[in-house]
Amino acid sequence: MVEAKPQIHDHLTVTPTGAALGAEISGVNLSSELSDSEFEQIEAAFHQHSVIFFRNQNLSPDRHVKFTKKFGEIEISPITQYALPSHPEVLLVTNVEENGKPIGLADAGRFWHSDISYIETPPRCSILHAKEVPFENGKSLGETHFVSTAAAFDDLDDGIKQKAIGLKAIHSFRHKKRAADTKRDAITRRDQQKERPNVLHPVIRTHPVTGRKCIYVASDGECIGIEGLPDAEALTLIDYLANHCIQEKFKYRHQWQVGDVLMWDNCSVQHKTIKDFDLPLRRLMHRTTVNGTRPV
Ligand code: SIN
Repeated sequence: MVEAKPQIHDHLTVTPTGAALGAEISGVNLSSELSDSEFEQIEAAFHQHSVIFFRNQNLSPDRHVKFTKKFGEIEISPITQYALPSHPEVLLVTNVEENGKPIGLADAGRFWHSDISYIETPPRCSILHAKEVPFENGKSLGETHFVSTAAAFDDLDDGIKQKAIGLKAIHSFRHKKRAADTKRDAITRRDQQKERPNVLHPVIRTHPVTGRKCIYVASDGECIGIEGLPDAEALTLIDYLANHCIQEKFKYRHQWQVGDVLMWDNCSVQHKTIKDFDLPLRRLMHRTTVNGTRPV
């Protein structure tokens, strides 16, 4: 647990959630130009807490892209039909439909995962801006849950740590589990599969900035084996590590409000969206993603 004591830097305040990860940053308007000092404080909080969020923001797509670019080069999703026509960098994550067709990715985040782990250089971070949030009986639905894979690594028995360090898991787009009710365009999925060979990544990766060791496997088809291990042994270890990560003690549950800007670190965090809403309740997020480095 991180002590939930606000740290005040000039006008900017970082308040840890009190869970194993996550902090709210207040006192900054992301629509205006950030000073170097503000950005340094935001980036430091991001590395310390792995998930950071800002309430009551109203970012235009231009500003969202501009803020994202401060963290690195933007990854443009190949699913171009679900991006904003004016801004291919901004992907719509939503259950909203027009003329009976989804206008964005409706099945993103239904299983525990780290974003796009099935490529050689998975993204450094992802940034969601909440435009519409489903509400029922005064409660916001469609929470996103995050777990700290760094805290989960620290908590492993030494024997498992020694066994897992040095192993490489096979990450697969092809076998990634999809929600049964997915409305994702089938042609897009087939085209993506053709272009996505399996990749190997360390089962335990080291954070490129903080140096913390993080568990980097999820089950549900993200990881289909471990190099050099028989399938049964590999899948048992993957399931053990993946289930270890998602315990309550490593978790922060984010209740969305319209205007939230939230970003997470894809090395030290896994996340999952709670699908407890359906149309006519609408959920609409603008998402950007920053390129990362090869996991080591
Ligand atoms: C995602 O996995 O990018 C979507 C997260 C969310 O919408 O809660």
